[in-house]
Amino acid sequence: MTLARRLLRTKPTERIVAEGGHGEGGELRRTMSLWQLTLFSVGATLGTGIFVILGQAVPKAGPAVVLSFVLAAITALFSALSYAELAGTIPVSGSSYSYAYATLGELVAWICGWCLMLEYAVSVAAVAVGWGEYLNAFLRALFGFTLPEAITRSPGQDGGVVNVAAIAIVLLATWLLLHGASESATANAVLVLVKVAVLAFFCAVAFTAFRSGNLAPFAPMGVAGITAAASQVFFSYIGFDAASTAGEEARNPRRDLPLAIVLSLALVTAVYVLVALAAVGAMPWTGFDPEGTQAGLSRIADLAVGATWPGLIVSFGAVIAIASVVLTVIYGQTRILFAMSRDGLIPRVFQRVSPRRRVPVANTLIVAAFICVLAGLVPLGQLAEATSIGTLFAFALVNVGVLVLRYRRPELPRSFRTPLFPATPVLGAILCGVVMAGLAGVTWLAFGLWMLVGLICYFLYGYGHSRLNAEVS
Ligand code: ALA
Repeated sequence: MTLARRLLRTKPTERIVAEGGHGEGGELRRTMSLWQLTLFSVGATLGTGIFVILGQAVPKAGPAVVLSFVLAAITALFSALSYAELAGTIPVSGSSYSYAYATLGELVAWICGWCLMLEYAVSVAAVAVGWGEYLNAFLRALFGFTLPEAITRSPGQDGGVVNVAAIAIVLLATWLLLHGASESATANAVLVLVKVAVLAFFCAVAFTAFRSGNLAPFAPMGVAGITAAASQVFFSYIGFDAASTAGEEARNPRRDLPLAIVLSLALVTAVYVLVALAAVGAMPWTGFDPEGTQAGLSRIADLAVGATWPGLIVSFGAVIAIASVVLTVIYGQTRILFAMSRDGLIPRVFQRVSPRRRVPVANTLIVAAFICVLAGLVPLGQLAEATSIGTLFAFALVNVGVLVLRYRRPELPRSFRTPLFPATPVLGAILCGVVMAGLAGVTWLAFGLWMLVGLICYFLYGYGHSRLNAEVS
């Protein structure tokens, strides 16, 4: 077989599905219900984006930031529909990695899996890095004291030595994950309910201070401002695909995965639009600080009531929100690696399942250790954009995957079909490209380097160990 044919060889869909659930030493347990899956995606999505990026995006778009959230949601929706179709057709843990393996071949699948590491492991480390600051904002508001900067910031940030707070939240999430997928899903459901309740509280408070005059002029920076802010807030929608990594632990994956993906995006969009509207209605857009940190929403809540307790509640919401992002995203990363390991592209240790707990214990511990090192020691502020580019690339591949599978395997049973085919996946892929094109040159450079390292890893290990290729040889 020529090199090109080996690299482009696809794995039959039926075989990917048949292998689902099986690991070395045991099987994963199918326990997750539709609601747990939906809240899993919401848990991974609703995080720093709304608490921080909203405030930073307002100076770009003015009150029309509300439209930026809608625009970003539409961009995400096209890809979400493609995810929903493939998750219903190939309901396994590998998410877009497995979809790419079934449609575009091994090399593209590897590249996709490598990009997913940006979306999951690297982004969760970046999110965990900020957790110490949220915790400090909360502690300051509640008790008037903060933890030392040496242990709540990364080296390279003001006064940071080791970000112990980031390591602590990763370890806490890991501890929960080792108890089992169902237990983690239940804990996540509680965290999600708390963060949604806190955002509902914010809306209730902010709407009491709503002045329609604050909405004028509505779009001071015009369409350009709205689209620039939309690229920035796109980050806040990343994560709706998290349910697709639970394909092998869902009770009824073919029915529930597509529903969970679409429902979570609808829920998150509704929350974001309401929060954005409440925020710009309560405070003149010129009052938002482009460099602002988590204090944005807290300050609005405090100003609306004329007291400090509402801000305290909002800070608490941010602490909880990040905890659930960390939990669900680490889960997703372990399951993607589980699928890659089963295909032989990474070492076998990642597919070992503990017969007692029915979770991939070694896999979870390795991922947690990697994230702890990144989050504790590396200043990751600059990496947020790099995670967006990797995610968008994976989303684009999923859209292309839908097109390829419809033409190559039209007869496959599909529990969900994306409407308006082929317009939806074509537009989905184009929109991903447009948002990617709007990202900075340095982000592209970082992405190129990341890909290069990925290709080297593939040719050093995956190419020689691939199960599919071993069978052919
Ligand atoms: N969407 C996630 C967040 O906003 C990444 O934190």
